[in-house]
Amino acid sequence: MKPTLPLCLATLLLAAATVFAETPATPLAMPIPADNPQTAEKIELGKKLFFDRRLSGDGTMSCSTCHDPGQGFSDGLPASLSYPTTKNWRNSPTLFNVGLQRTLFHDGRAATLEAQVAGPIASPFEMNQNLQFLEEELRAVPEYRQAFTVVFGDDNTSLERIAKAIAAFERTLVSSEAPADRFLRGDGSALSAAARQGYAVFTGKGGCLSCHPGPAYTDHGFHALRVEEHPESKDDPRLAATRRFVAKTAGLADFERLDADPGRELATGKRDDRGLFRTPTLRELSATAPYMHNGRYETLAEVIDFFDRGGGPGNTVLQPLGLDAAEKAALLAFLEEGLRSQQPPFVFPKIP
Ligand code: HEC
Ligand code: HEC
Repeated sequence: MKPTLPLCLATLLLAAATVFAETPATPLAMPIPADNPQTAEKIELGKKLFFDRRLSGDGTMSCSTCHDPGQGFSDGLPASLSYPTTKNWRNSPTLFNVGLQRTLFHDGRAATLEAQVAGPIASPFEMNQNLQFLEEELRAVPEYRQAFTVVFGDDNTSLERIAKAIAAFERTLVSSEAPADRFLRGDGSALSAAARQGYAVFTGKGGCLSCHPGPAYTDHGFHALRVEEHPESKDDPRLAATRRFVAKTAGLADFERLDADPGRELATGKRDDRGLFRTPTLRELSATAPYMHNGRYETLAEVIDFFDRGGGPGNTVLQPLGLDAAEKAALLAFLEEGLRSQQPPFVFPKIP
């Protein structure tokens, strides 16, 4: 993978900037933090760590277990896998263009990619690894000592450096130049007739653009669409344990009585934020089923039906749309075909 890819892309896309400031045609520029510049060696180190099962306590899981390049850096499950005997409660988001997200997680409780990394490593229901031990485990591997020295100047394998390297790798996961991008730059033939009609529904009758604008297809906001709990996990006592644990550690007073994911409240502590979830990107959707924070919907057709009937019970943000079968099919064509980019074959790293 070329380390300079995001920067080249930004330049290329800037050159092709269009006049529609708030449409998805706005150029996609990946911000790089000043204290964690991209270098080829750092990206390669981050890639190795991302695929290294040493990051999990029992050595069975790497980040890629739940963010698989073959599945749009997601995992194809309603709720992700988890550490043995525990149960994860949320759907694994794609990591394509994750460098564009202004907050991370379905509830926005992490601010930066660097800050996010320790989350899954330490989480008892995800990788369940001891963070101090991980530093020593990596220091025991000569290839890692050498790589950390090349990237950071000495062989200290600190969590901060682990996080920086992984974040640098994540910023290279870019989805752009999908048919919709070419279409919005004026190439009418980039989309099929059905997908073109679908774009009209997306921006018009469907009202999708109000929450999914710009090149990342998100307003970076939080909304309570009231997606219902997943029927398979609703009564799972292990999932309830996960929910109580997360809510307890976030300081929610009624953590024992929750029967649904409290969403954004976990990040802000505000009761008014209960049930709000971040608007996800829509790029590469065709590879990232199932959908929504809890993987409630298996297919995009089901998601479209959800929006068409005005969202979940009791929500106040969506209205029924009254789409006919042709409009739904067109919208589906746009989401599936329009937002899928051509990706070069993924080059897997060699784990030391
Ligand atoms: C056991 C499955 C699992 C593993 C392993 C895992 N993740 Fe995740 N990841 C998830 C789930 C589920 C979420 C959503 C969690 C939430 O919203 O609370 C997530 C969210 C994220 C996000 C936020 C994405 C966004 O759009 O907000 C990033 C970044 C991420 N993971 C990176 C990593 C990295 C880096 C690793 C390895 C250190 C890793 N993940 C390991 C399942 C996993
Ligand atoms: C009021 C804001 C809002 C509007 C309008 C809206 N969305 Fe969303 N969309 C969201 C939020 C928030 C979520 C995440 C909900 C959750 O996880 O519980 C979401 C989720 C999705 C998902 C699932 C993505 C994934 O990776 O899980 C798809 C697909 C989607 N929206 C498409 C659409 C389409 C198509 C329209 C128009 C018919 C639309 N949205 C209108 C806010 C909105």
